[in-house]
Amino acid sequence: MQPVPYRVRRVRCETRDTFTLELKSFRGQGMVFHPGQFNMLYAFGAGEVPISVSGDPSRPESLVHTVRAVGAVTRALCAAKRGEVIGVRGPFGNPWPMAEAEGSDVVIVAGGLGLAPLRSAVYHILSNRGKYGNVVLIYGARTPEDLVFRPELERWRGRFDLEVDIIVDHASAGWFGNVGVVTTLIPRASFDPQETVALVCGPEIMMRFSVAELAKRGVPAEGVYISMERNMKCGIGLCGHCQFGPVFVCTDGPVFRYADVERLLKVREV
Ligand SMILES: Cc1cc2nc3c(=O)[nH]c(=O)nc-3n(C[C@H](O)[C@H](O)[C@H](O)COP(=O)(O)OP(=O)(O)OC[C@H]3O[C@@H](n4cnc5c(N)ncnc54)[C@H](O)[C@@H]3O)c2cc1C
Ligand code: FES
Repeated sequence: MQPVPYRVRRVRCETRDTFTLELKSFRGQGMVFHPGQFNMLYAFGAGEVPISVSGDPSRPESLVHTVRAVGAVTRALCAAKRGEVIGVRGPFGNPWPMAEAEGSDVVIVAGGLGLAPLRSAVYHILSNRGKYGNVVLIYGARTPEDLVFRPELERWRGRFDLEVDIIVDHASAGWFGNVGVVTTLIPRASFDPQETVALVCGPEIMMRFSVAELAKRGVPAEGVYISMERNMKCGIGLCGHCQFGPVFVCTDGPVFRYADVERLLKVREV
């Protein structure tokens, strides 16, 4: 339960309200994590919140998180400057099923900041590229200005072994790419539905529509995984804050097989 102090090594501005923080522990030891896991980040004097690890799992020496400022704690984290200290507990939670996806095509569908926990999965796949079939990243944001990880997206777009399709709800001047909702890219993506594992993260409504579109393409429900967000306090299954029907999101999730939580997602409040 005790946060370990980490120093902010680098801050990158992603969008007007979203920042990527690179942290380094005081003792210099790295943090081994699996794509999809999260840490509890503690901004001293403000509080503690769950934030996905968005960095490269093959570089445990550099702990990377991407934070959107929406309230007191995330605003304090986003305002952190190089050299400041942040408390870290973790890593926690169930990761994306990277081993299960080996030998299959992988479709990654991200909406908005949902790309943060999926970026680690993309890094993992690229470090182990020979183990996966076709890999498609489908990413949607509200406007071009809301796209995160632009340098990586450009680099990944230039690769021959990764299909990257990006779309925005509303175009602005200078945008010549796709316009519309992220689900419209699923029908034309290159993957074999019968041999596909799909990883989906974003607002719940976007995940529901994405799963429906994947089902229309013929992806079996057992092959679809989503990552859920719920308010958390302890992060380790003690307090019950993250309870979602019969499951605790912090320990049973945040990554779930869609078929296992579909029924709960249809209920407004559980
Ligand atoms: C497993 C997990 C992983 C997460 N990963 C990330 C991440 O990588 N990057 C990131 O920026 N955030 C992430 N979040 C969300 C983040 O934890 C919340 O934004 C944060 O707890 C808000 O705290 P606050 O004190 O800043 O704002 P609060 O004052 O608590 O809330 C401010 C506003 O944000 C809304 N809000 C609070 N929590 C959430 C939430 N979970 N989702 C959407 N809106 C929320 C509130 O309803 C309120 O309107 C994750 C959450 C979970 C559970
Ligand atoms: S956050 Fe305390 S039980 Fe999940």
